[in-house]
Amino acid sequence: MPHIKVKPFNTEIIDAAAGDFIRFRAIGEKKEIVLIKTPKSELFLDIIKRDGEYLVKPNKITKGSDTALLKDVLNRFAKELNLEVLHANTAPKPNKPKIADEFFKSIEDFYNFKTDFKKIKLEVGFGSGRHLLYRAKEESDTLFIGIEIHSASINQLLKQINLQGIKNIWVANYDARLLLEMLPSNILDTIYVHFPVPWDKKPHRRVISKAFINEALRVLKKRGKLELRTDSQNYFEYSLELFSSLKQSSFKVEKNIDIPIVSKYEARWRKMDKDIYTLTLDSLEESKVKELNIDFTLENLNINAKITRKNIVKDDFFVHFGAKYDIVNSRGFVAECSFGGFNTPEKKMIVVDKKSYYLPTLPVKSLVNYKAHKLIKEVLKNG
Ligand SMILES: C[S@@+](CC[C@H](N)C(=O)[O-])C[C@H]1O[C@@H](n2cnc3c(N)ncnc32)[C@H](O)[C@@H]1O
Repeated sequence: MPHIKVKPFNTEIIDAAAGDFIRFRAIGEKKEIVLIKTPKSELFLDIIKRDGEYLVKPNKITKGSDTALLKDVLNRFAKELNLEVLHANTAPKPNKPKIADEFFKSIEDFYNFKTDFKKIKLEVGFGSGRHLLYRAKEESDTLFIGIEIHSASINQLLKQINLQGIKNIWVANYDARLLLEMLPSNILDTIYVHFPVPWDKKPHRRVISKAFINEALRVLKKRGKLELRTDSQNYFEYSLELFSSLKQSSFKVEKNIDIPIVSKYEARWRKMDKDIYTLTLDSLEESKVKELNIDFTLENLNINAKITRKNIVKDDFFVHFGAKYDIVNSRGFVAECSFGGFNTPEKKMIVVDKKSYYLPTLPVKSLVNYKAHKLIKEVLKNG
């Protein structure tokens, strides 16, 4: 992760430099944070004061996955404040392939999901992206949506999209279990889940669950398919049991079949002569339209709200307020906040000032997030 180490300086110079790029500084118990605005996004830098040096690095919650942008931000920050840099890993790499950022989609792009493509297929956890790239090239009349939680895989795919001139892939850096909830009903032709992490010791982290499959059946068109491939006997048996309990669907099981493209994982298992199971789930019915009239705006909040380290647990969701940072030259503050479903939590920074909002993006439009949002608003209004 890009970062710089600088000679200790009086951080009050940040307040004097505030403008279009440096927005404000806020002071917390363990570190200071600085809000930075770029043409693409807003993010925080953390300033961690250590003996003999200050470490400046992108704040984990708001950093996003664009390393080149983060390097630019850190270099500009040091330059504008005339800081003495002791160490940096922020040199731009001029020959690095460019990222196709027009195909990198944010959560807001899924709020009002629209496309002219008649066919849409989605891959959960595309890893190296080999399968997704192959399919997208083969089926240029289909929009492919790739969802990954691993930022490095996202960047790798965006580079390949650019290099190969592909125009029909959308890439999202999110937990697929959450993102699926934002898609309209009956729009997908296929969902691919190839070699998901088995999570034998933490089954609640598995992609495949009853809730996920119900959402998958909702977003699949009638006759749409979910294709699960796994080398894990355990995951196969778990999924088989789950698929057998479902209504409105049928499924088939195949062993060691050939598909046109072999992913990195599959190649490894094949070499080891492992059995590979394919479970194909067929959606048999049209699903109801899902109306989620959800509004995540934050207004009329109380800047005197007492929220530090508050943990509220309800039946199906929670809200946890972490560190709080007081904004310099304003009475407002920034709060770290985790919230939502127990297995699909979201983590945001909440700016509570003249204008109040979530960073880096709005939450995913799901029912549990909305319940959590209403509770967050209540706490931030009443203290
Ligand atoms: C074992 S790898 C398989 C990658 C690829 N499908 C293949 O066959 O080579 C599983 C991938 O799923 C991603 N992943 C795990 N949980 C996820 C989730 N909830 N949402 C999206 N991606 C996820 C991981 O980051 C990882 O890249």
